Amino acid sequence: MQILGIETSCDETGIAVYDDNVGIISNNLYSQKKIHNKYGGVVPELASRDHIKKIIFLMKKTLKDINFDISKIDAIAYTAGPGLVGSLLVGATFANALSFAWNIQSIPINHIEGHILSPMLEKKKPSFPFLALLVSGGHTQLILAKNYGQYLLLSESLDDAVGEVFDKIAKLLGLNYPGGSLLSKLAKNGNPKRFFFPRPMTNKSGLELSFSGLKTAVMQSFKKINTHDQQTYADIACAFEDAIIDTLIIKSERALNITGLSNLVISGGVSANHKLRKKMKKMMSDRGGYVFYPRKEFCTDNAAMIAYAGTFKKQRTVKNLKINVYPRLPINNTF
Ligand code: KG4
Ligand code: ZN
Repeated sequence: MQILGIETSCDETGIAVYDDNVGIISNNLYSQKKIHNKYGGVVPELASRDHIKKIIFLMKKTLKDINFDISKIDAIAYTAGPGLVGSLLVGATFANALSFAWNIQSIPINHIEGHILSPMLEKKKPSFPFLALLVSGGHTQLILAKNYGQYLLLSESLDDAVGEVFDKIAKLLGLNYPGGSLLSKLAKNGNPKRFFFPRPMTNKSGLELSFSGLKTAVMQSFKKINTHDQQTYADIACAFEDAIIDTLIIKSERALNITGLSNLVISGGVSANHKLRKKMKKMMSDRGGYVFYPRKEFCTDNAAMIAYAGTFKKQRTVKNLKINVYPRLPINNTF
């Protein structure tokens, strides 16, 4: 079985083909980073216009990768939500137009399910049930993954997502959008002891997550210092990164204790963070459990994870050509 995957939920246009015998046989991605960089965040109207500009080019590249052999493609999986409505509509319309032209079914996919399943694209795969920590630009969630398509949201950030806070603090430190990985690089030269920022909601029991207070604390320290010294910037970046990582570790451990699970999946853009990976790995091996990540290129948005998620829906979805998108789609709706 081969599934064509299409991802356009935010500022990355992606098209990939997953073959259930071979794995990913084509994976193409165009990032709009440069377009949004000068605005310090994603401009939705520019994002959807650019998806329109790039999607046909990416499709041609994908067809070339598979030697124009569309006879083996069984279905087209596309991100139907959550995401930016205009961006989602480009992918959904394109997928359904192809579905009509090729007379094969189109499958709506929940983008969050794509992220949760992204480590399944690796050799070392997690087995169900597992705890998923999704840390991306738009979401910070702890999810109990019972099986394909069966997810229970345990907790999510009451305000900013972790990736969003990384990007805002990176901007404060004069780094380009999206600044998560640049901030992490800067933090490597920082002194972890010079600043200390709160580990939000960790004094209270429970799984609640909130990151806007931490963001404000960092911003206030930054204002007080009033310097452009690069070492100070690195020290702030380091203390901020440590606060985020400690908080995520504390909350993940609690969720593992509550659920009794020993497998942890960490996915979404922030899961590319080297220090987070290292510390989570240590925490899990101390507990006798295992942690699973996607490779770095599959941490951030991509179509490979959408194509993979489509393989489990193929038999279940009745062919339809409804172009519906869901900007605020919850994880308990996986179609
Ligand atoms: O999953 P993703 O591509 O987008 C959403 O679906 O929301 O995640 C993008 C986010 C951005 O906020 C980016 O700054 C962050 O992931 N990110 C990182 C790192 N690499 C990407 N944050 C921290 N450390 C990194 N190494
Ligand atoms: Zn995403």
